[in-house]
Amino acid sequence: MSRLDQLAAISESSKGLTRRYLTREHRRANDLVGSWMREAGMAVREDAVGNIIGRYEGESRGLPAVLIGSHLDTVVMAGRYDGMLGVVSGIECVRALDAENVRLSHAVEVVGFADEEGARFQSTYLGSRAITGRFDPDVLKRKDRDGINMGDAMREFGLDPARIGEATRDPENFLAYLEVHIEQGPVLESEGLALGSVTTVTTVTGANRLKVEIRGEPGHAGTVPMKKRHDALVAASECVLVVSEIAEASPNTVGTVGQLTIGGGGASNVIPGNVSLSVDIRAADDKVRWAAVTLFEESAAKIAERRSVQIDIDRVHEASSVNCAPWIIEQIDRVIVEQGGRPFRLPSGAGHDAAAMSDVTDVGMIFVRCRGGVSHCPTESIAEEDAVAGAHLLSNIVRNFRRQIVS
Ligand code: HGY
Ligand code: MN
Ligand code: MN
Repeated sequence: MSRLDQLAAISESSKGLTRRYLTREHRRANDLVGSWMREAGMAVREDAVGNIIGRYEGESRGLPAVLIGSHLDTVVMAGRYDGMLGVVSGIECVRALDAENVRLSHAVEVVGFADEEGARFQSTYLGSRAITGRFDPDVLKRKDRDGINMGDAMREFGLDPARIGEATRDPENFLAYLEVHIEQGPVLESEGLALGSVTTVTTVTGANRLKVEIRGEPGHAGTVPMKKRHDALVAASECVLVVSEIAEASPNTVGTVGQLTIGGGGASNVIPGNVSLSVDIRAADDKVRWAAVTLFEESAAKIAERRSVQIDIDRVHEASSVNCAPWIIEQIDRVIVEQGGRPFRLPSGAGHDAAAMSDVTDVGMIFVRCRGGVSHCPTESIAEEDAVAGAHLLSNIVRNFRRQIVS
């Protein structure tokens, strides 16, 4: 828990925790986590996209590894457990092995992914997709809010965009990927599970992220008659409402506009000419999700026509819903019972690096409840007993890991 507090102190802002990809704070967090990995007996390296990776050899060198991971980057004004809990739990798991001089029939690797949230460049799952060989080079051109593009930010951080491919790992290196994460929802708490209970995750919900640019006509708030206006902010407001209406009308779907920016910052006596907004649409069923995205795009086109504004939509991120491996879910359930707990399974509405890692290896996730289901904000909190239960469960799974001989 104190390690999570130490990481929370590494922030771009004095007003809360913000640690985005390729910032000085990313560098400081990697250095601190790397030192913990070394103390835990791991060989440590930083890969070509800025993931920090520790490796603890098995009974002989070079064995395939159980990969434990989560992310070290955060959203803006974040909580201190989203992502970091999974990295610190993995390090604890290896530290115990090292302290007991235990060598397993497989290696164990712990990864702190560099960019899962995509808060700086809308580049979600960037670190995990680089490891699986699915890094999208187009994101290198994306600019952050200060106009810096990712390629330049990488060079500034000490990385060479031309060598990103070196981060790709051979899937044969991995037996499975495991991630401990806070639930980020209210279900576990409402389930009334005993303190120190954890649960296994069944699926990680798929998501689309869109970047919407609306170009109208700026003008004087006092002189332009209403009928002659091409107000980009009024059009944007209709887009915000239509995201919500589409999601409400679509089964198991959520829709969010989390960012809305008036070009130039706006002024009370100027008709907004240029507005950009983010759209985040998720659904358990991929077909339902894509139908909602298409419906939004069609609705935006109608708003553009009716208000004579230009609306451009860029599909900046998409990830399909992913199932955790049944054989890992069963192993997790079995250990929960052995630990005296009650197995409970839950889908994840939030996205996780496990979704990206499932492209190359079987994945399992362990959820730890968080108070009130609150996350992605400074009041995110967990009970220490629950964090300990999550780490113990992870440790049991790793020590008793039986690779599923997939028939
Ligand atoms: O957006 C998500 O679900 C995750 O926090 N990246
Ligand atoms: Mn998150
Ligand atoms: Mn997360």
